[in-house]
Amino acid sequence: MRNWVLTNIKSLVQVRSMPEKPLVGEDFGRVPCIDHAYLVIRDGKVFDFGPMENLNQEVFSSFSIIDCSGRFVLPAFCDSHTHLVFAKSRENEFVQKIQGLSYQEIAALGGGIVNSAMHVATMTEEVLFEQSKERLLKIVASGTGAIEIKSGYGLTLENELKILRVIQRLKNENIIPVKATFLAAHALPLEFIGRKKTYVDSIVNTWIPKVAEEQLADYVDLFCETGYFDLEDLDRIAEATQKTSMGLKVHVNQFSTFGGVSRAIHHKAHTLDHLEILTEEDLLSMVNQPTIATVLPGCSFFLNLPYAPARSMVDHQIPLSIASDFNPGSSPAYNLFLMWSLACINLRLSPEEALNALTVNASFAMGMEAEQGAIFKGYAGKIIITEKSPSLAYFPYAFGENHLHQMIN
Ligand code: NIG
Ligand code: FE
Repeated sequence: MRNWVLTNIKSLVQVRSMPEKPLVGEDFGRVPCIDHAYLVIRDGKVFDFGPMENLNQEVFSSFSIIDCSGRFVLPAFCDSHTHLVFAKSRENEFVQKIQGLSYQEIAALGGGIVNSAMHVATMTEEVLFEQSKERLLKIVASGTGAIEIKSGYGLTLENELKILRVIQRLKNENIIPVKATFLAAHALPLEFIGRKKTYVDSIVNTWIPKVAEEQLADYVDLFCETGYFDLEDLDRIAEATQKTSMGLKVHVNQFSTFGGVSRAIHHKAHTLDHLEILTEEDLLSMVNQPTIATVLPGCSFFLNLPYAPARSMVDHQIPLSIASDFNPGSSPAYNLFLMWSLACINLRLSPEEALNALTVNASFAMGMEAEQGAIFKGYAGKIIITEKSPSLAYFPYAFGENHLHQMIN
C-alpha cells in the first residue's frame, strides 16, 4: 500500500469529524473546507492534514508526493443503493421506452426484473463474479469509495444466494468497503403469479433466516409498489428481518403512494429509497424520525419520471442521501459526479447540500459513518483529486465533464 502526501491543494473538502446523526438543516447546507492545504494518507487511511504552512515535508520524505495545485481534494463518494450484480444489460428495453412503452408495460411484456432473473439463472457464480468485479473497478475509477449492493435478480433461493455470494466475494476482494442487501421481494417470479403469499412465505420463513444464519447480508429490502409487494408483505418482511441482526431498507413510492412510507417508518426502516411520488402525509410521517430518505435522481432522469420532492424533505429537516440506483432497468449509470449535477438541477439542492447527501449522509445510509464520507484522522484514505477547477460549484454545474483527475484508493 503506497503512502501519499498531497500538497498545495486548492481546497481540501469535507473536513469534519463525523456528526452523531445524518446532517440536516443549516449543517446540511455547509461543507467545511481548508484552502491551500495538504493531506497525508498512510496505510490506506487519512493520517494528517491542515493548511500548507503547517506541513513538515521532511517527516514524510519516503511518501509519494502529488502536487495538487489548482485542484480540489474530496473524500470519495459513497453509493448507498446499487444493484450492480446483474447478468446482462437491457438496452432493448431502452429502445422500447423511446418507442413509448412505460417501465410497467415493459415488465408486463416479460421484460424488467423477471427478465434479468432469467439471465442470472443461466450464469455461473464464477462468470457473474468476474463481470461484477470488472464493473466495480469501473465504479471505483469514477470516484466511488464505498458501496451497497443488492441481490434481487435471483428470485429463487438458489439464485439469490448466488448473487449474495458474489457480493460477499466482492467484499473479500477489499477493493472498497461493500454492504450487502437481500432483496428477494423485488418482483414476483412468473410461476408464483396469483400465489404471492406463497412466495413471501418462503422469504420470511426460510430465506431470511438462512441469509441471516450464513451472514450473507447487512440489510433486507423489498419493492413495496403497486403490482409488486404490498403493505402486508412489508409487515411480514419487516417482522422477519427484526428477528435477525439485519437492518431494513424499502423501495417505496416510486410509482404510487398507498401508505408504505408511514408503515416502513413504523417498522423503523433504516432508509426509504425512491420516494418520487409523495403526499403531504407521507412527507410529514418522515419528520423527526431517524429513517434516512435516499433519493435516486438517475432513475427519474432515465425513466422520465417525476423527481422526489427533495427540496421539501430538506426544508422539513428530513435526513437526505443520494445514490445512483445503478441497475440495468431503471438507472444504468453509476457516476456520482453525474448524480451531483442531477441533484442540483432537478432536485434543487445547492452544490453543498448535494455533496453532503453523496458523502456524509450516504455513509450513514449504509452504516459506514465511522469510516467513510469525510476527511478525518483514521477515516478511509479513498480520495478524489479533481481536475483543475475554479470552484466547488463548477463540478455539478459542468455536467457530463470528467472532473476526476486521480483516484487514490
Ligand atoms: O430501484 N424499483 C425497483 N428496482 C430497481 C429497478 C430494477 C430493474 O428494473 O431491473 C430500482 O429502480
Ligand atoms: Fe433500486
